[in-house]
Amino acid sequence: MSDLTVAGSVPADRLTTSPKRLQWSSRMAFILAAAGSAVGLGNIWKFPYITGENGGGAFVLVYLACILLIGIPVMMAEIMIGRRAQKNPTDAMAALALEAKASKLWQGVGWMGVITGFLILSFYTVIAGWAVSYIFTSGSGAFTDITPDQAGAMFGAMLADPVRLLSWSTLVVILTMYIVGRGVSAGLEKAVSYLMPGLLILILIMVGYAMSTGHFMEGLEFLFAPDFSKLSTESVLVALGHAFFTLSLASGAIMTYGSYLPKNTSIVKTSIAVAIVDTVVALLAGMAIFPIVFAYGLEPGAGPGLIFVTLPIAFGQMPFGIVFGTLFFVMLSIAALTSAISLIEPAVAWLTEKCQFSRLKACVTSGLVLWILGVGTVLSFNIWEQHKIFGKNFFELIDFLTANLMMPLGGLLVAIFSAWIINSKVAEQELGLGKGICFKLWQLTMRYLTPIGIVVVFLNALGVISL
Ligand code: PHE
Repeated sequence: MSDLTVAGSVPADRLTTSPKRLQWSSRMAFILAAAGSAVGLGNIWKFPYITGENGGGAFVLVYLACILLIGIPVMMAEIMIGRRAQKNPTDAMAALALEAKASKLWQGVGWMGVITGFLILSFYTVIAGWAVSYIFTSGSGAFTDITPDQAGAMFGAMLADPVRLLSWSTLVVILTMYIVGRGVSAGLEKAVSYLMPGLLILILIMVGYAMSTGHFMEGLEFLFAPDFSKLSTESVLVALGHAFFTLSLASGAIMTYGSYLPKNTSIVKTSIAVAIVDTVVALLAGMAIFPIVFAYGLEPGAGPGLIFVTLPIAFGQMPFGIVFGTLFFVMLSIAALTSAISLIEPAVAWLTEKCQFSRLKACVTSGLVLWILGVGTVLSFNIWEQHKIFGKNFFELIDFLTANLMMPLGGLLVAIFSAWIINSKVAEQELGLGKGICFKLWQLTMRYLTPIGIVVVFLNALGVISL
């Protein structure tokens, strides 16, 4: 059996290899799986466009602060909960609540995570479909010498065609369910070890191109010079929500993957490593995209189409653009797939463990529901574009509900649970930080800083308080 089989959709009873190899291979497997889950559309598609929409530098600063002060500590807590319980998120929360003699209601946090992951996946597959579709667009040479207007029109034509969007997203749903259903994620996780450096190199090539546009400094300034007058209260909530989204938190994903982690692996080091890789990819994506935006007079706040309009222009201009462009969208699609399997794994695990579904039945059922929800997202870019609830179309509503409400709320509850409910000794032992200052720091952060921070951001965005 592959030494990486522990990741993703392989049942826990197949985890054991020889004890000597287990330690190394599983640590690697976990890092690859967790990094594969974290790095995805969130870094390359979502981060640049929400940064553009929220005015740049100040937003990025708040986002980085959220990763450091909230995201990383919550990630440690989620891995700890998963590993301690060795169960799916709902049962893990229930088991640890029982151990701490707390209410069984805490398993609701696990539930909310599973539902959040599922809802995210319903639009994630549609956007991943855009990436897959662009593999072929790029391969056909359609980007060569494309003008900004033509790139916009090309993307617009894709969005306007619901059948095309649905076909690609259907393919992504089928691929995801196939991988999860067959438990063949091991190969995919292994691919991550090539994909990650490959994706990084391609993004660096894009950054190199961005440098040649003559607008690199303008791009950097937009990304890194904070102008707090551009930061609305909702922007702060978006930054917080994205910190959870990009690190795959509050969605059952990291907790489930954590349940496969052996006892002797450092949760702290692993979490920091995953967060660093994730953040570097997002920042580099921003550094590649904004100089192109300014060089070609595009709008930073153009919305979800931002990378699909800017990057083709760059590929159309650079040497070997067809090769780089095609490779880029291939890698983006695989990065999206490794995130997608982690988004659905908790729901499938839950259906098989709780409802006694066979793995196949669990995959077909969740795939169908996902697909139906995905139709809503597909239509919100064309036929339903003007159908709005609370000023948001279907896609925007699910995105808002998951990233800006359910994830911060889930993170808040995980922080309270891990720092107030779980016995300190248990947390100390699981995190392996000893009794020293590091553990105290983590505990203080989770007890006060994280919960208060999240509540303040919520109240601020709701207009209850004003900072
Ligand atoms: N972190 C993934 C990304 O940035 C998305 C994701 C969210 C994956 C939640 C799993 C769980 O693309």
